[in-house]
Amino acid sequence: AEDGYELWLRYHLLATQQAAIYRSHATQLIESASTPTQTVTRAELLRGLGGLLGQAPPSSDAVTSNGAIIVGTPGSSPVIAGLHLDTKSLGHEGYIIRTVEVNGHAATAIVAHDDIGALYGTFHFLRLLQTEQSIDHLDVTQIPHVKLRVLNHWDNLNGQVERGYAGASIWDWWKLPDWRAPRYTDYARANASIGINGTVLNNVNAGAQILTPTYLQKVAALADVFRPYGIRVYLSVRFSAPIEIGHLKTADPLDPQVQRWWRDKADEIYKLIPDFGGFLVKANSEGQPGPQDYHRTHADGANMLADALAPHGGVVMWRAFVYSANGEDRAKQAYDEFKPLDGHFRDNVLIQVKNGPIDFQPREPFSPLFGAMPKTPLMMEFEITKEYLGFATHLVYLGPLFQEVLSSDTMVHGKGSTVAKVIDGSLDHHTLTGMAGVANIGTDRNWSGSDFNQANWYVFGRLAWDPTLSSRTIAEQWVRMTFTNNPAFVKPVVDMMMGSREAAVDYMTPLGLHHIMGPNHHYGPAPWDASEARADWRPVYYNRADHQGIGFDRTRTGSDAVDQYAPAVADEFNDITKTPETLLLWFHHVPWDYRMHSGQTLWYELVAHYTQGVDDVKRMRETWSHMNGYIDPERYQQVATFLAIQQKEAQWWRDACIAYFQSQSGLPLPPGFAPPQ
Ligand code: GCU
Repeated sequence: AEDGYELWLRYHLLATQQAAIYRSHATQLIESASTPTQTVTRAELLRGLGGLLGQAPPSSDAVTSNGAIIVGTPGSSPVIAGLHLDTKSLGHEGYIIRTVEVNGHAATAIVAHDDIGALYGTFHFLRLLQTEQSIDHLDVTQIPHVKLRVLNHWDNLNGQVERGYAGASIWDWWKLPDWRAPRYTDYARANASIGINGTVLNNVNAGAQILTPTYLQKVAALADVFRPYGIRVYLSVRFSAPIEIGHLKTADPLDPQVQRWWRDKADEIYKLIPDFGGFLVKANSEGQPGPQDYHRTHADGANMLADALAPHGGVVMWRAFVYSANGEDRAKQAYDEFKPLDGHFRDNVLIQVKNGPIDFQPREPFSPLFGAMPKTPLMMEFEITKEYLGFATHLVYLGPLFQEVLSSDTMVHGKGSTVAKVIDGSLDHHTLTGMAGVANIGTDRNWSGSDFNQANWYVFGRLAWDPTLSSRTIAEQWVRMTFTNNPAFVKPVVDMMMGSREAAVDYMTPLGLHHIMGPNHHYGPAPWDASEARADWRPVYYNRADHQGIGFDRTRTGSDAVDQYAPAVADEFNDITKTPETLLLWFHHVPWDYRMHSGQTLWYELVAHYTQGVDDVKRMRETWSHMNGYIDPERYQQVATFLAIQQKEAQWWRDACIAYFQSQSGLPLPPGFAPPQ
């Protein structure tokens, strides 16, 4: 039965004709398996080719016929050394896939400078087969644009996953370090196949326990499993750990005893895990301890940890997700706290910034920190798990959201200063670069709570490797690998995925609305909710609907959040006629009778967007209903059922939001408005 466990690495037998073509390109396998990474590379080749072609080619030492596949590095293989390819410029992780001639025989060479590049190239090659691409004349060169491509697990040590909708944590802490579940290896394979090279194992709301010797042994066991796949482990650390497990009286980053404690802790970790990646830190945010508890700055805190890790080559990923109930517009607070610290961080510190200034909403403008801290490497933080986008059941492909953020123009150095260029380091010449995604992985057989949520893990990895890739291309590859290459399936399903994010924006938070989901759980509509003690946790604070209008005034006459952007962008967001309508209510409090570009009033247009969202989901369901028969009944049926849930809930969102906003506007519904069902 199909349970989605294999993800996009299914390797099921290809159609007879296609398999026959590929078999003529896979007559011999020339590789070496003397290092752990080479060993897993060979295993993947045998598994992939064996599955896709029905049988894997035999291994040999020399090219003796057409159709050899040669895999490795100049150091691992004399055949590859003989090709005289320039592998140095590929760096540690890059690779070449090229059709070459050896001894007069055509062959396919998958070549890298280091083993890990050859593994990445192998996954790329297998993808070409999985997606039925021609492999007659290959000339591919790939080098990752971003250095640290990292998953953030918000997994607690008790097995619960914060904002996880796919079951419990896959880390079985009770049975580690002795029992290394096979699933850990499959996790590593899946990540390596999309270029993810780091994983933060535990929640940013961290307990100190993970740093105790007992747990570090368990962490080391996972690191051992991941190492051949090029994946390093990182840990979220609790800033007050020196008090809680070190029995010190303070965690003040300028206290020599505290500094010493972290240095010793780092030494202890690296003894167990020589390639440990480093620390992720949530400090002075949502009640977490941090340097400000001692009247020190984020830089003091980050640098102290950075100094402990530096001798071992580790990094600190210090989060900029900070805000407090101080009465200031929450959207402004991260910038206000971090921008003045630009230039004050050690070389091995990255500041990890959420894509938008509030919190992973269906749509936000890009965070104004991107471009504002040229002296500091800024890491992107995306949320793969759909905390604000319908959890497991709603079909929302996040590729377009990620791409929208990455292609946004900060304008800090004039046109073309995109967020992608901040993240890949090219804008301000950083070589330490990174992208993090909050994982959507759990113990569900399908890993991600739904088959389509797997696409969000996939697209994150691919965009971290190359932020300029198109989310549509990635979706198409994913669909082909995950379901089928049949064009009658691929085209409509990719179209459905590509429209799904805008559909969710429309039925949840159109026109720049945000944070109107139910407090705490963040599922379902509650724009009327004012129950939270803190104003900045109340949906009413964000939508500000009243008799006059709706929206949050962040212009120069409002909270002035607009001026955190470069002047050209700020002027645009400050001017209601120039603000993109998709962000209208993010930046402006707008009268209900305001005329939109369409000529309609804001009120009518708002209603129209909510209705559009529901209609889009109806269409998605309709599209899917024609897909029965192209794929296995198990996955077909679950998607169909989830889409039915989504339609019901899109309707709930629409009806609830319109009812509430009408209670504020006091205006009649548009003529012909379809009433709640
Ligand atoms: C959101 C989320 C929290 C999480 C926080 C963070 O607010 O709801 O669960 O801890 O982000 O990113 O730190």
